[in-house]
Amino acid sequence: MPIDPATLDPNPIRQLGGWIADAEAAGVALPTAFALATADADGVPSVRFVLLHGLDDDGLRYYTNRGSRKGRDVAINPWGAAAFWWAALDRQARVSGPVRQLPDDASLDYWRSRPRGSQLSAAASDQSREIGSREELEAAVAEVAARHPDEVPLPPFWGGYVLIPQSVEFWESRSDRLHDRVEYRRGADGSWHARRLQP
Ligand SMILES: Cc1cc2nc3c(=O)[nH]c(=O)nc-3n(C[C@H](O)[C@H](O)[C@H](O)COP(=O)(O)O)c2cc1C
Repeated sequence: MPIDPATLDPNPIRQLGGWIADAEAAGVALPTAFALATADADGVPSVRFVLLHGLDDDGLRYYTNRGSRKGRDVAINPWGAAAFWWAALDRQARVSGPVRQLPDDASLDYWRSRPRGSQLSAAASDQSREIGSREELEAAVAEVAARHPDEVPLPPFWGGYVLIPQSVEFWESRSDRLHDRVEYRRGADGSWHARRLQP
């Protein structure tokens, strides 16, 4: 059914969850992957994919290295924008808003759910910084593994973030490229208002 402000869910976060579920059902690879844009203190943008690891009324949760480029960006300029694209459905969704750090206990829950190999890689990587060779990287992983033969503790430089939606847009392809776009904006009282945008 074509999208329209009157027929989409009044809550865009629920609507986004529905579209992710549709993408999963359609067999889209990595339906939770989204491009996350941040900007540095000078407003210079950068974008990369991350995985969504939680979607609720608070927003979109993702995890990364706080010292990475995206981590440093949001420490200075706490705003982000996300774009999902699901090829098999010819749909796009966009979200933008402030980004907040998740508390360590929330990060720890997710950290503990990760396989040991992923924990070791995250703990050993000074993400986004230069390293001389693959061998040095693998030696760093071996060193962390030897130091933590059992549990790998949550590194102080790694954790979660939540992108709090202030605007959310749903885009669906239509014939002759006369696409449908519905944008939601959050009002000062927290309520959502949806409107149709021109393609
Ligand atoms: C599909 C996909 C999912 C990814 N998911 C994550 C993720 O959840 N967290 C993360 O830190 N990096 C993830 N990456 C790697 C990032 O795209 C990026 O290379 C890395 O985080 C460093 O980005 P930065 O230097 O801009 O901070 C993913 C890459 C791809 C292609």
